[in-house]
Amino acid sequence: MTSTESAPTVDLQRAAREHLWLHFTRMGGYAQAEVPIIVRGDGCYLEDSNGKRYLDALAGLFSVNIGYGFGEEMGEAAAAQMRELPFYTNWSYAHPRAIELASEVASLAPGDLNRLFFVSGGSEAVESAWKLARQYYSARGERRHAATVVSTASTLSTDEAAVRVDEARAVAAGTERRWKAISRHVAYHGTTMGALSINGIPALRMPFEPLVPDVLHVRNTNRYHRPAEETEEEFTRFLLDDLEHTIETAGPQTVAMVIMEPVQNAGGAFVAPAGYWRGVREICDRYEILLCADEVICGFGRLGAWFGSELYDIRPDLVTCAKGLSSSYASIGAVIASDRVMEPFLEGSSMYSHGITFGGHPVQAAVALKNIEIMKRERIVEHVAEEQGAFRATLEQLLDLPIVGDVRGTGFFYAVELVKDQETKAGFDDEECETLLRGFLSPRLFERGLICRADDRGDPVVQISPPLVAEQEQFDELTGILGDVLAEAWTKVKR
Ligand SMILES: Cc1ncc(COP(=O)(O)O)c(C=O)c1O
Repeated sequence: MTSTESAPTVDLQRAAREHLWLHFTRMGGYAQAEVPIIVRGDGCYLEDSNGKRYLDALAGLFSVNIGYGFGEEMGEAAAAQMRELPFYTNWSYAHPRAIELASEVASLAPGDLNRLFFVSGGSEAVESAWKLARQYYSARGERRHAATVVSTASTLSTDEAAVRVDEARAVAAGTERRWKAISRHVAYHGTTMGALSINGIPALRMPFEPLVPDVLHVRNTNRYHRPAEETEEEFTRFLLDDLEHTIETAGPQTVAMVIMEPVQNAGGAFVAPAGYWRGVREICDRYEILLCADEVICGFGRLGAWFGSELYDIRPDLVTCAKGLSSSYASIGAVIASDRVMEPFLEGSSMYSHGITFGGHPVQAAVALKNIEIMKRERIVEHVAEEQGAFRATLEQLLDLPIVGDVRGTGFFYAVELVKDQETKAGFDDEECETLLRGFLSPRLFERGLICRADDRGDPVVQISPPLVAEQEQFDELTGILGDVLAEAWTKVKR
């Protein structure tokens, strides 16, 4: 592009086709078709470049928690920060907004999750959590070895003791190493190489192999396809046995982190059975493995609590968050670490050897702070807790349709699983998914003015995750459109 072509005169359609590379998108599909261009938003609604309105039942990407209506206020917060300090780094320095945001989030996070390491998004948060878990064990090992040397070295001179401590550190760094991560099948945790390796979706991982060693995948909490006679208790036992067996097989002393979402998104809003989280925590404690709750979607109100970890009493050592932290008005994420994880990094020359230029960016932090202020003032989390029953009841009307096998989820986070036969729960094969989900459902929903996601990374589901300001009017509207389109899809299946 030449410098004389300025942005306002650009033919957006043409420029999008020629210059923009959309994420996870078959670009060939736009050789003839229009690229959808979203130009503005308000509340739960979006408008495209043709002036058409959409109900955004996906909140952007499970992320615009306060909806699109707070641009003015958020913009003022960003502008004020731009005037005061447009950028400074968290590499060795602090600045007021990062400090304030860290304290604010620590006050909302459960238990002793008190320390925030800021990053730019969800994948970076997962990446950083895994690196932190890896380094935690060597830092802890160094500390333990150093403590042993110091306690037994009272007869040594200061210099000799220092040499012995250094030697002990070197030994510990070589021996107390854990690097493996465990996540669940079909779970999505991001796309950077570490986060991608953690993903439980083979089709996403395969093009990029070999991946980062080593990740093991355990069963997820999808109950829909389990035997009807299995009790919840039996299901929990089955899942926990699998986790424990996987750890034993991997070698417990090599496993650094178990990472799981409070409610798993990919596969379709899998809520864990009773006793599951207590069991996972117990197993992690027994093998001294760090438990990370990936709250990139679940955090900041989606489940009707500030954190899913609080709702389910998960007691994680690490939490990853991003999207809802700023309601996606800014690109900011974080790893929240417990006091226990932080401890070995507070001593001597110990340091978490990791950093990102934009981590804790002051403008992004100011926007995230404003987001939390708005969420509190507008009682967003309370609204989800109060309205989740009505939302569920409205969505459950879809169960009357023969193509709907299951409606599951919690808070404002749901999935509708599509089946060929409600009795047998038989799903669709790959070819049927291609024609039904990609060929028909996704474009038809968009045509009808509803944005939600038809997803077949596991069994085929439609994911529903509206902004947290949605009310009965939006519940009815989205259920109505979705119901019409699913009924239409059924006529195609039966043809
Ligand atoms: C649970 C979870 N973790 C991590 C990520 C990656 O986040 P990002 O797309 O911001 O890198 C996502 C994204 O959807 C997610 O859902």
